[in-house]
Amino acid sequence: MTKTIVNSWNEWDPLRHVIVGRADDGHIPPEEPALDAKVPEDSDMRGEWGRRPQETIDRANELLDNFASLLEKRGVRVDRPTPIDHSKPVTTPDFHTESQFGCMPPRDVLLTVGSEMLEATMSYRCRWFEYLNYRPLMQRYFDEDPNFRHESAPKPRLTDADYHPDYLSEEIGVAKRLQWAEEKFFVTTEEEPLFDAADVLRFGRDLVVQHGFTTNLKGIEWLRRHFPDHRVHTVNFPGDPYPIHIDATFTPLRPGLILNNPQRRLPDDQRKMYEDNDWQIVDAAQPAHNTPPPLCYSSTWLSMNVLVLDPKTVCVEKSEVYQAEQMDKLGMEVVEVELRDAYAFGGGLHCCTADVYREGTCEDYFP
Ligand code: NVA
Repeated sequence: MTKTIVNSWNEWDPLRHVIVGRADDGHIPPEEPALDAKVPEDSDMRGEWGRRPQETIDRANELLDNFASLLEKRGVRVDRPTPIDHSKPVTTPDFHTESQFGCMPPRDVLLTVGSEMLEATMSYRCRWFEYLNYRPLMQRYFDEDPNFRHESAPKPRLTDADYHPDYLSEEIGVAKRLQWAEEKFFVTTEEEPLFDAADVLRFGRDLVVQHGFTTNLKGIEWLRRHFPDHRVHTVNFPGDPYPIHIDATFTPLRPGLILNNPQRRLPDDQRKMYEDNDWQIVDAAQPAHNTPPPLCYSSTWLSMNVLVLDPKTVCVEKSEVYQAEQMDKLGMEVVEVELRDAYAFGGGLHCCTADVYREGTCEDYFP
């Protein structure tokens, strides 16, 4: 087998090597501050926890395996994580929680910037050890690629001081959450740097990072200091009452073109760098579904959680017919991929992958 080279600077250059997650041993974790704030009051997941039903794990794995095969047939090399035992509790000197989450989705944990893969701090206690699922791959890349930089952000303590108690005390309601999002008052505090990798989008020299539940301002500042050759931009999407992970909100498709969730529009005062460089920000098509699948944390906007294979080709979930139609009109070739029954394990086509190699170099798209 050819040796690994780690290199990826953006979300759209031709994809040659990727990690696809697994549903093995996926758990709904017990209640904990940041997770509770994310689960809507009317969700079927409130109060539930434990190992997910085996038939849902098997079905999600079938779809993830099929996606991996489809990518391989298109010439993309695919690696898979090695699941740890997610039923094991997480105990540190600072906290205890009864179970973990899973090894889906890798995009939340691993941020690839050039020849570096950075393990995020994460912000849920149940995801504290999730990087271990990817360590066998990281060790292999380290052995095979002399330029690979394996980095890990400082592990956070995740004491109660990391979370605003107001977010947790009672039934809050969407209106209040929207007001808080507008005021940039999120469940996480500024106690210590926190970020999930899926709050970051890569645009060559520019990194665009969502400030929300899973990434705080100190986390963004940490990224800024860690990547001194990049410009790091903080973005907010006030229409989102549960702002976690940017990739069902803002989706770059190719240089000059971004889809934006019409319910979570980028505020006018944050658009300048795109407008000054003639980038178009287009409203994404409506999702094909009115509700997410059962026991799913994500919204119906996983419709726009697509995986770009190259600037002309994009993987879209098979049932998301409106999103596929819009891609077609935007001049993209659509590759249909069935994945909806795996959404409950942590997300869509972008979420369930992490880049290892895309062709291309670090370009400045916003000079
Ligand atoms: N906040 C997002 C997560 C997407 C991966 C959503 O549920 O819409």
